[in-house]
Amino acid sequence: MGLGEHSAAVGRRKLFIVGSVIIAILIGVGVGIGVGLTRNADSSTSGGTSSSDHNTPPVILCSRVHTRSSLFPNCNNSLGNVISDIQLISQLTTRIRLYGADCNQSALVLEAIKQTKTNVSVYLGIYNVPDDHTAYTRQRDLVRNALQTYGTEHVLGVTVGNEFMLNYLNANGGTEPNSAIGDQGAQILVADIADTRKMLSDIGVSLPVGNSDAGYYFNTKVLEASDYGMSNIHAWFANTTVQDAAAWTARYFEETNVRPAAQLANRPKMYIAEAGWPTHSSDEGNKNNGGSDASIANLQIFLDTFVCQANQNGTGYFYFEFSDEPWKDVMYGGVEGWWGLFPFQPDFKGH
Ligand SMILES: *[C@@H]1O[C@H](CO)[C@@H](O)[C@H](O)[C@H]1NC(C)=O
Ligand SMILES: *[C@@H]1O[C@H](CO)[C@@H](O)[C@H](O)[C@H]1NC(C)=O
Ligand SMILES: *[C@@H]1O[C@H](CO)[C@@H](O)[C@H](O)[C@H]1NC(C)=O
Ligand SMILES: *[C@@H]1O[C@H](CO)[C@@H](O)[C@H](O)[C@H]1NC(C)=O
Ligand SMILES: *[C@@H]1O[C@H](CO)[C@@H](O)[C@H](O)[C@H]1NC(C)=O
Repeated sequence: MGLGEHSAAVGRRKLFIVGSVIIAILIGVGVGIGVGLTRNADSSTSGGTSSSDHNTPPVILCSRVHTRSSLFPNCNNSLGNVISDIQLISQLTTRIRLYGADCNQSALVLEAIKQTKTNVSVYLGIYNVPDDHTAYTRQRDLVRNALQTYGTEHVLGVTVGNEFMLNYLNANGGTEPNSAIGDQGAQILVADIADTRKMLSDIGVSLPVGNSDAGYYFNTKVLEASDYGMSNIHAWFANTTVQDAAAWTARYFEETNVRPAAQLANRPKMYIAEAGWPTHSSDEGNKNNGGSDASIANLQIFLDTFVCQANQNGTGYFYFEFSDEPWKDVMYGGVEGWWGLFPFQPDFKGH
């Protein structure tokens, strides 16, 4: 893959995005901390224009003005903003994943794909919450309604749970996914995965059903119930240097996820659900996590190495993430809000 097939110049950030980047899109709901990032979202942008000719790479300009929310119960997302996001995303990738279904986001994304006629397909998501089972049933019904309205032409699968095991263990004093406490949490997920399969079969739909979690947190019983597993793997949080990040990510994924999954009778297909590098920290102390700095230059190195290699190796991955997330910066500080390929606003907090 050659450098600069796509060049995205956004505000003061200039990145050369290589090959086909699959983006973890955050229009979702939920909070998780740890190896992976917290994620919820508010992907709502406005603006988004592009131009290209044969010799110059496409230049994508965007400015995000309105803060809109898909965080239940604060739903004020809008179809217009989701359409802008999908238009921008469709220039980088054909596949995205959602983390949750609240605030009608499954329907909004499928409606946006329909209206823009873009070649984008989506893994829908349901964000399970350890102590509130209504979060599952509410989102399952939203997924069902969206599939009944839009069909499955642009749907790749339904992911039940994101970092549920990580959150469940944290909430219940556990650390190991395959332990007695882990198996208690797994029981909830396994039942919800079965319930999602029943919902799909009730409406005459056949789709893969999977699960996503932080890389270390896959429970065997959950994987045995899943068609696929999506694993969040962050070299940054493991304190690797950016030069080592691509190889570290590949090794971690192979050893922790691919090999164990291949031992199971159902052989769930494993994907890297998040890999990325932060560009900024809101405080000096978190600018370096023991490896390399959070910086745009280092994000460029991560793109040049990880994205190229993963494309060549045929690794299924989702790039983390589409856009910076100001709400996370407000809530968590440090690097949490600053993983986007696109800034939320070109001058947001002077970054
Ligand atoms: C959407 O809701 C969020 C959270 O309640 C709020 O901060 C934001 O200002 C709202 N945005 C618009 C455009 O109404
Ligand atoms: C749409 O994208 C898929 C990859 O996800 C590709 O295989 C297919 O050829 C594309 N279709 C069109 C019409 O570009
Ligand atoms: C969202 O949900 C409502 C009510 O369930 C539905 O009527 C509407 O058409 C949905 N889709 C979009 C794109 O807003
Ligand atoms: C790709 O494969 C090579 C050779 O096995 C390996 O060194 C590298 O770490 C892999 N990279 C990714 C991102 O999969
Ligand atoms: C990474 O470094 C931080 C301090 O920068 C430390 O608190 C943490 O334990 C380290 N993590 C690993 C996995 O080495």
